[in-house]
Amino acid sequence: MTFPMTRMRRLRATPALRAMTRETALSATDLVAPLFVAHGDTARREIASMPGHAQLSVKEAVREAKELAALGVGGLILFGIPRAKDAEGSEAYAADGIVPRALTAIKEAVPDILLWADVCLCEYTDHGHCGVVVNGAVDNDRTLPLLSRAAVAYARAGADLIAPSDMMDGRVGVIRAALDEAGFSDTPIVAYSAKYASAFYGPFREAAQSAPQFGDRSGYQMDPANAAEAMREVALDIEEGADMVMVKPALPYLDVIRRVKERFTVPVAAYNVSGEYSMIRAAAERGWIDGERAALEVLTSIRRAGADVILTYFAKEVAALLKPRKP
Ligand code: PBG
Repeated sequence: MTFPMTRMRRLRATPALRAMTRETALSATDLVAPLFVAHGDTARREIASMPGHAQLSVKEAVREAKELAALGVGGLILFGIPRAKDAEGSEAYAADGIVPRALTAIKEAVPDILLWADVCLCEYTDHGHCGVVVNGAVDNDRTLPLLSRAAVAYARAGADLIAPSDMMDGRVGVIRAALDEAGFSDTPIVAYSAKYASAFYGPFREAAQSAPQFGDRSGYQMDPANAAEAMREVALDIEEGADMVMVKPALPYLDVIRRVKERFTVPVAAYNVSGEYSMIRAAAERGWIDGERAALEVLTSIRRAGADVILTYFAKEVAALLKPRKP
């Protein structure tokens, strides 16, 4: 049946009809807000390339967590700026490191928001790579025990989910074993399974002061040209015990999100990364696009592609937009 019997516009005619036939829902519970935490009493150190985001003191992070929880945001993920960086990234796995401190404080004050802990060494190493460097290259197997120690330290401090983002081979398995042995067999692992070597991490590296000091991350992060390889990464991580898998960045990889969703049955997360955020903010600041609408559209597209959960720097403002207003 075609026109004039079929008129696609009938179901678009009113807001009520559109709302009832909408295929994809965006909800604050599905969002995870990244926060950067730093030592000291300075409440906020603004991040120039990420307007609206700052490195937060622990106290300020607790305040932020309260606001996020009040808006119904499902979770937050912490990234730490250490007091000092060294070759082995030792603050990443120190029991009194910045992330464990923040986790403990937030857990106590805001028990009803999920705390995700990113596990990686790059914010903590002086060379900025995600693992231990031996002879100029990131040594996979020497990095694994350090990642395990970090995971256990974060679980002890109150992390609800452990999210390794380092892209070392075999890390999900060793982290699972370490968590189980330390008594955290119920703590889920969200693996950054398909993490691409992306230009879109630029602003994050300013925020976390984690740009590699030599070379780049192409020796461990994925080639943007590859999607079949992402299926192998996801399959391996699930075999090693990942409870949830992630695709990162989100927008340039919507096809990968879709393929993972169709092929596997674990929940899929997508990371709408710093560069994806900053591009919209920058264009909106210039009046070139409507930033709020663009953010909603982007997050909806990531859900439509198949992501169950979205990590996004828009979490707070979008949750506020989604909040039902009193008539
Ligand atoms: C690594 C990590 C990175 C991001 C999250 N975890 C940076 C990187 O690989 O360089 C980037 C997130 C973003 O750009 O928003 N610990």
